[in-house]
Amino acid sequence: MLDDTLRGRDYITTQELSRQELELLLETSVQLKRQFRAGEPHRHLQDKTIFLMFFDKSTRTRNSFEAGITQLGGHGHFVDIQTSQIAHGESAKDTGIILSSYGHAIAIRHDLFPGEGNSYMREVAEHANKPVINMQCDVDHPCQTLADLMTIRERFGDDLRGRKIAVSWAYAPSYAKPVSVPQGLITLMTRFGMDVTLARPPEFEVMEDQLEIARRNAEEAGTRFEVTDDMDAAFEGAHVVYPKSWGALPLFEKPEESLELSKKYTDWICDERRMGLADKDAVYMHCLPADRGNEVTDAVIDGPQSIVYDEAENRLHTCKAIMALTM
Ligand code: CP
Repeated sequence: MLDDTLRGRDYITTQELSRQELELLLETSVQLKRQFRAGEPHRHLQDKTIFLMFFDKSTRTRNSFEAGITQLGGHGHFVDIQTSQIAHGESAKDTGIILSSYGHAIAIRHDLFPGEGNSYMREVAEHANKPVINMQCDVDHPCQTLADLMTIRERFGDDLRGRKIAVSWAYAPSYAKPVSVPQGLITLMTRFGMDVTLARPPEFEVMEDQLEIARRNAEEAGTRFEVTDDMDAAFEGAHVVYPKSWGALPLFEKPEESLELSKKYTDWICDERRMGLADKDAVYMHCLPADRGNEVTDAVIDGPQSIVYDEAENRLHTCKAIMALTM
């Protein structure tokens, strides 16, 4: 039997869960990983249904949720927004009431435009009588950052005091990526013992309220939180480096302009020289997909310090814990 503390709860940002509740999610993720690898059945959600609503593309999130709910004995129902009445403007209220009457949870990815996704899922949650899970919004990507924390602990142990993570912007020409991953990282890792340095060019700021939460979390946890526009300085002495691209906040409605602006910073790449600035045991992380040759060189992402595939695998075990404990 699993602990019932989180049963029926939404999972929208990690900030809304206590440290103890996040520890429960992490412990359950470890247990589910062990059982999955041992081939032991763990059908905690027999005959339960989760609706998986995607306003944006996905590889890891969609497939880890679909595979995960199957392994838990339930069913994941993929909702393609473009072929649902949501594309014709059906309200968040009606969607929340109706889908929650058909199943046991609603998970939503709505991450493309600042100010939209988080509000949308909170409106669904207000009217749904089942848990709502954030599969990435404009503010947070709490499924990703929980997997990241699990992966960092696997490498460095549960006590992360004195460990430094460099969360850095990096250049990518593919598309203006959401800001939710760096925001989720700075707000979560400051609570779990890590010293956090956020590096970004001045035009690629993250949301001010998330910076404020990170500052407050660091103060309360006795950790450090710093912001710099120097990628090298952020890497110096870091135990974890997490360089990834994101779009300029005022330009998400004009992504081409955001990409044009980012061309000023093509030297913001994670290469072997920069890895040399970090601690000798430093690891390279990325939520993926990575723009190879731009955000990171092949030598780094395919090299001995990269733990991106462990990190991606842990998306499965952590999303199963989130579903198993809330649904
Ligand atoms: N990291 C992540 O969320 O991957 P996807 O966009 O493929 O789901």
